[in-house]
Amino acid sequence: MMQAGVTLDIQPDSQALAVQAADFIAAQVRAKPTLSILVATGNTPMPTYAELGRRAARGDIDFSRVTAVQLDEYLGLSDHDPRSLWGWMERSFVTPLGIRQSIRLADPAAFEADIAALGGIDLAILGLGPNGHLGFNEPPSPPTAPTRVLALTPASLESNRAYWGELSVPTHAITAGMNVILSARAVLLLVNGAHKRDILRRTLEGPETPDVPSSLLRRVPLTVIADEAAWT
Ligand code: F6R
Repeated sequence: MMQAGVTLDIQPDSQALAVQAADFIAAQVRAKPTLSILVATGNTPMPTYAELGRRAARGDIDFSRVTAVQLDEYLGLSDHDPRSLWGWMERSFVTPLGIRQSIRLADPAAFEADIAALGGIDLAILGLGPNGHLGFNEPPSPPTAPTRVLALTPASLESNRAYWGELSVPTHAITAGMNVILSARAVLLLVNGAHKRDILRRTLEGPETPDVPSSLLRRVPLTVIADEAAWT
C-alpha cells in the first residue's frame, strides 16, 4: 500500500513504460497546454521522449506552448560539446516535440528567478540515480538544497561515465536544487532495470531522508512508472 499522494504503476518492460509515461505526459499537456516541464536527460526517459516525438510528428499532441526547463548541466563545456546536457535535452526532447521555449540552467539565481517568472514547475520528469540522486543532488541533499554549482561526487562520475564512452566526465556541474524539484506541482519518476530495484524500494518504502534524496519525493504528488525488473 503506497502512501497518499504516491502512485506506483508497474509496466512489463521499458517499451510499455515509455508508452505509459508518454500517455501521462500527454494528458498533462492536454489539460494545460502551457505546461512547464523540468526535464531529465540520462538513459531512462529516452524511449518516452522518442514516443512523445512520434506522437508530435503525427499531430496527435501539440507541445508548442510548453516550456522545457533544464534539470542539470556540466560546467566548462562549449555549446557544441557532445556531452552538453543542454544539447542532449534539445536533441531528445525540445526539437522532436516541437517545443519553442526552454529555460537553460547556467546561473543558479537567474534560473530560480526564471522559474518563478514562469509560475513554477508544473511537472518534473526525473530518472532515479543508483543512490537516490536526483539531477546532481547527491546524498545527503536536504529538501532545502538550492540550485547550485558543485563538484561531481565519485557516485555522479561513475553513473555518468556510461553516457560518454571514451570521453571524460566533466568534474563540475550545476543542478536544479531539491527546492525546485520539491516545489513541482507533480513529479513523474521513471525507473527501469533490475539495477534500480534496491533504490526504488528505498525511495518508496524506506525512511524519508536526505541520505536518499529520492525518498523526499513522497512529499509531493508523485507518480512512479517502473518496469517489472525494477520492482518485482
Ligand atoms: C539526468 C540526471 C540524472 C539521471 C540519473 C538516472 O539529467 O539528472 O540524475 O536521471 O542518474 O540516470 P539513468 O536514467 O541514465 O539511469
